[in-house]
Amino acid sequence: MRTVHLRSRNDFDEWRAVARRLLLDVVRPEDVVWVDPAMPHDLFGAEESVEEVTGRKVGKVPQRFMDWAEAGICHSDPERFGLLYRLLWRLQKDRDLMEVRSDPDVGKLDRRVSAVRRDAHKMKAFVRFKSVADDSGLERFVAWFEPDHFVLERVAPFFVRRFTGMIWGIVTPYRSAFWDGETLEFGDGGHKDDVPADDALEPVWKSYFSSIFNPARLKVKMMKTEMPVKYWRNLPEAEVIGSLIRGAKAAEEAMIERQASIPSSKHVRRMERQAEETPVAVSFDSLAEVKAVVDECRRCPLYEMATQAVFGEGPAQAEVMFVGEQPGDQEDLAGKPFVGPAGKVFDAAMAEAGLERERAYVTNAVKHFKFVPRGKKRLHQRPNAGEVKACKFWLNLEREFVKPKLIAAMGATAVSSLAGSGTTLSSVRGRVTELEDGTRMYATVHPSYLLRIPDRAEAERERARFVEDLRAVKGLMEG
Ligand code: URA
Repeated sequence: MRTVHLRSRNDFDEWRAVARRLLLDVVRPEDVVWVDPAMPHDLFGAEESVEEVTGRKVGKVPQRFMDWAEAGICHSDPERFGLLYRLLWRLQKDRDLMEVRSDPDVGKLDRRVSAVRRDAHKMKAFVRFKSVADDSGLERFVAWFEPDHFVLERVAPFFVRRFTGMIWGIVTPYRSAFWDGETLEFGDGGHKDDVPADDALEPVWKSYFSSIFNPARLKVKMMKTEMPVKYWRNLPEAEVIGSLIRGAKAAEEAMIERQASIPSSKHVRRMERQAEETPVAVSFDSLAEVKAVVDECRRCPLYEMATQAVFGEGPAQAEVMFVGEQPGDQEDLAGKPFVGPAGKVFDAAMAEAGLERERAYVTNAVKHFKFVPRGKKRLHQRPNAGEVKACKFWLNLEREFVKPKLIAAMGATAVSSLAGSGTTLSSVRGRVTELEDGTRMYATVHPSYLLRIPDRAEAERERARFVEDLRAVKGLMEG
């Protein structure tokens, strides 16, 4: 019998080094005791050495096993190390084992991998940073989160990408992650009390949450997936959930009384629609406040895949606002609008037309990048009408605060968001249209359209037309 005491709960490389040695020593899975690393080490006396075996080889395993094992090892099931070793052992004889979904070991690992991925997703969605006062004047942010599994190390790089410019820490019961703007480090776990209870952003979260609260979703999904009750205690906005539920319940009862004959599924759909259509009263005091919470948007599912919401950029009192479609791949990573290839076309055309981008407010109709993964690439997908409608909430707030004299809509998505889904780009291009609130809109093509024209002469002609449109924008501003 071999006893293995791993040091880490979720270090795949450490487990792999030990597993290879066991395999090379031909130790059968049933002859290994994997001690849960969560147990204190000194209970077990001398530990097994885990140095890497070099020089000799074990059979190559399919990539699927590697991918699943890297996720599966983060599961909180104390049996996970043994399960992985059993699969590794069996794979030496049966290379196709991972394809057999009915196999009990494969099925078990599959379920653990799904649970870990779900948990990582929840962590991305529900971590809330609090601002921490610092004597040095540096603003730091810290968050407390209790994952079900050991996912902090998997998720921390996501927060590095999303909050690169911030100094932050995430504390969980088993480990903490710290980012100082350059280096990501991990330390011991902590306690909820390590994180301050309040900060200045909290009223904003609460106000935003009240505005997006959808009682039907609460009923249908919240308990299961969307916002499980266990996360409420970490969310500042959770304080308002009680009153919202009571309000929703009263509204629902009144509705049931009126519509007793409606079958329940229709009833729920109707409630969802009603909640979506209900005008929201959110009190934001500034554009900066809006920007601080836009990343939390859950109005449509696009947040699930995107790195971050990309808010507009430019002077808060800009006279002209440019509206594109949605952030692209590079914008999603940078957190800024129009910085990728379409942004380069836009910048060049602006300069040629004599417009200064720095004086304009530049934004998009949709704030999250919609794409389909293709290998290492992320292919742009056009947002659908529902996504455009859901995101209008944010565009309207930008319009309310910036109050531009003129809006330049670039492309069909911007036009339909601003002027309504019945308005086509071809019907309004190159002329001024008055929007519902009286703001003037001037419509032109989207810069990425110019990048897609295969014929060079045609592309050049269309580019010149685009520059002409921007000149017209300039003329309207000056006039
Ligand atoms: N396309 C857009 O519509 N917006 C961007 O920010 C980038 C590309």
